[in-house]
Amino acid sequence: MRSPRTSEGASPMLEPASAPPPDFTVLIPTYNEQENVAELLRRLVAALSPRHDGGPVPRLLFVDDSTDLTPVLLREAAADCPLPITVLHRETPEGGLGGAVVAGLREATGAWAVVMDADLQHPPALVPELVAAGRSGQADLVVASRYAQGGSRQGLSGAYRLVVSGASTLLAKLLFPRELHRISDPMSGFFAVRLAAVEPMALRPLGYKILMELAVRSRPRRVAEVPYRFGERFAGESKSTVREGLRFLRHLAMLRLSTPGGRAIAFALVGLSGVLPNLGLLRLLTSGAGMHYLPAEVLANQGALLWNFALLELTVFRDRRTRHWASRAGRFWLLGNADLLLRVPLLALLVGGLGMGVLWATALSLVVSFAVRFLIAERSIYLPQRVPTPTSATT
Ligand code: GDD
Ligand code: MN
Repeated sequence: MRSPRTSEGASPMLEPASAPPPDFTVLIPTYNEQENVAELLRRLVAALSPRHDGGPVPRLLFVDDSTDLTPVLLREAAADCPLPITVLHRETPEGGLGGAVVAGLREATGAWAVVMDADLQHPPALVPELVAAGRSGQADLVVASRYAQGGSRQGLSGAYRLVVSGASTLLAKLLFPRELHRISDPMSGFFAVRLAAVEPMALRPLGYKILMELAVRSRPRRVAEVPYRFGERFAGESKSTVREGLRFLRHLAMLRLSTPGGRAIAFALVGLSGVLPNLGLLRLLTSGAGMHYLPAEVLANQGALLWNFALLELTVFRDRRTRHWASRAGRFWLLGNADLLLRVPLLALLVGGLGMGVLWATALSLVVSFAVRFLIAERSIYLPQRVPTPTSATT
């Protein structure tokens, strides 16, 4: 079992001293939900009626970033709530909602964590069902889905949110067909996950879509779904904003670039885009400055290399700039120029030695050069940041 840690700036935890080990953790991120706390707790207690035989009970873990009375109300309620309540109030709300869920996953105890919202759009009555579905189906992840048969998203207010939610789901599924194949509602914020199947330290959520992050990075092997009706907010208003939408797009890009396949495609696109500065510079140097086309081409090629380097640094390899910048630039420059030098003998071999047509030989040499350059970039220029190795499984 993971030992509870108190993260920096967090308030002390409240928990009965002699509580039996929790069966699972209900993990609820909260941000200014003071009007919802009482009703939420009432419904959670009703749904998770504690056992009187001293057997394991679920634990409620709130990760709170509120500036209102939410944490105060939660702590007050904890005193006479039949379920053990832990309130982790973060002074610095790092990572927003996604960061809160990751912080909660690190503190969660028991075999499962059920992640849900505090505003009652996620019915508490479904919590035991999610865990039961995971246990009986031996799944690692159980998604409460608005799109599975029998589910609905009536609580999504207005056409605008309906369209945005639908488009986000479609886009995510297009970009991650394999990872999200079995998940009809990857935007859901309501799910149960087997703690042994996730490594919270490896998660890098950006904004709201923590389930998508988890499904793509942790790749739970077995996924189940339970339909549900996404209700109306009980009180207060949604914290989601347009800025959150933009953050979602960045999150998608980051996730896509977290796999070698995604990086290879982006690397190829950046390479292709280098044709533009190359031709532009060539024209400028020859027609504009009257330079001979050969030295002009050499210079134009250096310009394209610089363009590619800058773009790769800012996009594809943004998170892998672990070496010193001068080392990255030097290696990249060498690689780019060696590529030019080596492609000529390769071409000569393919055409002269193997009798290939010039066009085919050029195409093949470009593909080979692309693959070699990508591999060298990945293996020797842009090394991944160290991700902590998974700790032993939780109970
Ligand atoms: N700790 C913490 N920190 N909690 C937060 C933060 C934050 O920065 N921002 C929001 N929350 C909490 C809210 O208090 C609520 O309990 C939950 O996260 C969801 O926030 P809402 O503001 O109600 O989000 P929503 O209804 O727009 O979005 C929900 O539905 C979407 C599906 O349409 C979320 O569940 C999304 O994850 C989900 O994709
Ligand atoms: Mn909500």
